[in-house]
Amino acid sequence: MIYAKAFFDLQFQFAQKAAALSGLPLADALLKYTNFYIRFGLGRDFDRAHPGWREYLAGLRDAGDGQAWTYRFYMTRPCGPASPPVVATSGCFSYSRLRDDRLRLHFENAETDGSSSLGIERRGRRLADLAALFAHLKGTEGESVRVVGASWLYNLDAYRRLFPKSYLATARVLPDRFQHMPLWGQFVDRHGEIKEDMARRLRERLRRQSSLEGLDQCFPLPVLTVEAPVSEFCVFYGV
Ligand SMILES: CC(C)(COP(=O)(O)OP(=O)(O)OC[C@H]1O[C@@H](n2cnc3c(N)ncnc32)[C@H](O)[C@@H]1OP(=O)(O)O)[C@@H](O)C(=O)NCCC(=O)NCCS
Repeated sequence: MIYAKAFFDLQFQFAQKAAALSGLPLADALLKYTNFYIRFGLGRDFDRAHPGWREYLAGLRDAGDGQAWTYRFYMTRPCGPASPPVVATSGCFSYSRLRDDRLRLHFENAETDGSSSLGIERRGRRLADLAALFAHLKGTEGESVRVVGASWLYNLDAYRRLFPKSYLATARVLPDRFQHMPLWGQFVDRHGEIKEDMARRLRERLRRQSSLEGLDQCFPLPVLTVEAPVSEFCVFYGV
């Protein structure tokens, strides 16, 4: 997936505002308040000394137009994996292992014909993806292992209708996810294009924002985190 320039521009403007509110240099705000480091394929350590990050900042210093440079730099980066190491995949869903042995569920649009992966007409396929994934989990990880989700997507009926109520009932807001796609993903559609209405809402709130506290509330949708054992999913999907 290649994301549109407007998606990077939006994050760049967000970092500029965060820099103004916090007193941080722009270079630090770009590291701390955008998804750039991950999108550039530099990993997840957010190490300001990483050669790739230093190359980006060096170019930024010399660039007349920082947003144009950012996108040029992104487009030159190799298409490496930008997600954490995945253990297994089923259609649009996959999982990885967290440090404490809980499992983290991931969603990525895997429809190749441009159709809506979360649309009502694809609900059956998504439930089949999840049933296969949880049948696999039941056999390999056991039923008591806990599964964690964290995404803006848990705000949408189109996503919530794929999961057991008991899992959704544990939802709580996860603040401060400025470096991650589970927050920024709300601004792009399945083609990688910007969602203008969502971006406009962020910009409007950002204009009125006068302190670093509450920066999270400028986003139209919060990141929600949810958690349940494998057994609850198995009952729901009948596996
Ligand atoms: C997730 C993603 C594929 C959705 O793309 P999309 O083009 O908006 O998807 P669709 O237009 O097919 O919408 C699917 C459904 O979601 C709903 N939806 C999408 N955005 C919505 C929003 N902001 N508010 C309410 N509903 C929304 C649509 O109404 C539709 O539901 P419906 O069929 O019941 O009407 C896309 O945002 C994406 O790839 N994001 C980046 C990656 C990401 O966020 N991954 C999750 C990280 S955890």
